[in-house]
Amino acid sequence: MGALTSVPPGKDTMSSTFHVRGGRPLDGEITVRGAKNLVSKAMVAALLGTSPSVLRSVPDISDVRIVSNLLSIHGVKIEHDVAGGELRLDPSNVERAHVADIDAHAGSSRIPILFCGPLLHRLGEAIIPDLGGCRIGDRPINYHLDVLRSFGAIVDKREMGIHITAPNGLRGTKIHLEYPSVGATEQVLLTAVRAQGVTELTGAAVEPEIEDLIAVLQKMGALISLQTDRTITIEGVDELGGYDHVALADRIEAGSWACAALVTKGDVFVRGAQQKPMATFLNIFRKVGGGLEIREDGIRFHHPGTPLKAIALETDVHPGFMTDWQQPLVVALTQADGISILHETVYENRLGFTSALNDMGARIQVYRECLGGSSCRFGRSNYNHSAVVSGPTSLRGADITVPDLRGGFSYLIAALGAEGVSTIRGIGLIDRGYESFRDKLTALGADYWEGEE
Ligand code: EPU
Repeated sequence: MGALTSVPPGKDTMSSTFHVRGGRPLDGEITVRGAKNLVSKAMVAALLGTSPSVLRSVPDISDVRIVSNLLSIHGVKIEHDVAGGELRLDPSNVERAHVADIDAHAGSSRIPILFCGPLLHRLGEAIIPDLGGCRIGDRPINYHLDVLRSFGAIVDKREMGIHITAPNGLRGTKIHLEYPSVGATEQVLLTAVRAQGVTELTGAAVEPEIEDLIAVLQKMGALISLQTDRTITIEGVDELGGYDHVALADRIEAGSWACAALVTKGDVFVRGAQQKPMATFLNIFRKVGGGLEIREDGIRFHHPGTPLKAIALETDVHPGFMTDWQQPLVVALTQADGISILHETVYENRLGFTSALNDMGARIQVYRECLGGSSCRFGRSNYNHSAVVSGPTSLRGADITVPDLRGGFSYLIAALGAEGVSTIRGIGLIDRGYESFRDKLTALGADYWEGEE
């Protein structure tokens, strides 16, 4: 196994410029590996063990490098076979890290908040800097801090960051989440597994990535049961070992390439894409008129050659249509015949990316009201969280800047489907969650090049 190549703190990979000549159907085969939103959490879980863990099918994305570096500065020894997708994490010597180093390595990632429970168990304290993440809403951490407090942690907000201690240890507790937050559910899991006594979490998020994290923790020796009513019960144990786990496939990446196939009138086989975690996406893809062939080793997504259909769609927590599929799908809806209605209920500010699509020729109007379904928690606020997409519209090349990870990939999809050349700035942000997307574009026959002009 090769040694980890670390990314120097502050390295700016976000500023590179990408050019796409659109109009070519994407055609061919690509592979997706482990889900970014599981892999990063499973890596943090390794901190809880007394022996090394092995994570397999790890994608080569910058979020993995960020978490590797964060673990390294906390004393975890890491070996990474990048090509083989294998990560070995040895937490025998966990140690304190300096908040400035955490800040420098975390960049805009929100992962440090999930280090809190494991570090409290290992070291009795945790320090985290102010957190970033994609600019798709306020993205507060109040649920996380409330969760930690209810286990008995003391949260002290200081100038350099948030200092968290547990002078009397962490004790099992009853927690109810007012909204089924993915991160807060993971916070509970990563803290409760080694807390004293039983924890009962109601209102939990039940995304497939969370079920996979539960599987990882069970392999380490944790006692966790998941009921059908969003209740998770965790019996704390005194010690956890390591795990050997194959990460579930990245269903967001698979869905993104599926939308790219539709927009470019292409035909893409996504090797590794799994049916069950994508069931809701597959229903919507079919309703829009996309062609599907579901196989054991992957899913083929193609444009059927007939007009795409407009739909009404609401994003939701699992098992609903996930918010991360929304942005790529909106680009596909610009090509559908008629008026589509979209209601984003997970993030208050995830439709800002549509204005650049309008500059490319799309007709998308955003609204503050909850359109096309139930009212959501943003209904009485001023957030433009619903959209009406009128199609079909021809897209034309433009000069655009990546706003966030999924929005950025959506611009790439729009550029691939547009007439003429697009310039996409800040393309490096896409490396956070889309493994080797340049190689995949090449494999699918896209016409692109990188460089200033
Ligand atoms: N929220 C709060 N307070 C908190 C935490 C969350 O109000 O303390 C709110 C958020 O502002 C948001 C909602 O709760 O409106 C849901 O947030 P959640 O905690 O579920 O999201 P997350 O854990 O921060 C993960 C993924 C996101 C994905 C969401 C929803 C990771 C690293 N990120 O975020 O993925 O959109 O769950 O499924 O797992 C992405 O991959 O591009 C991405 C943004």
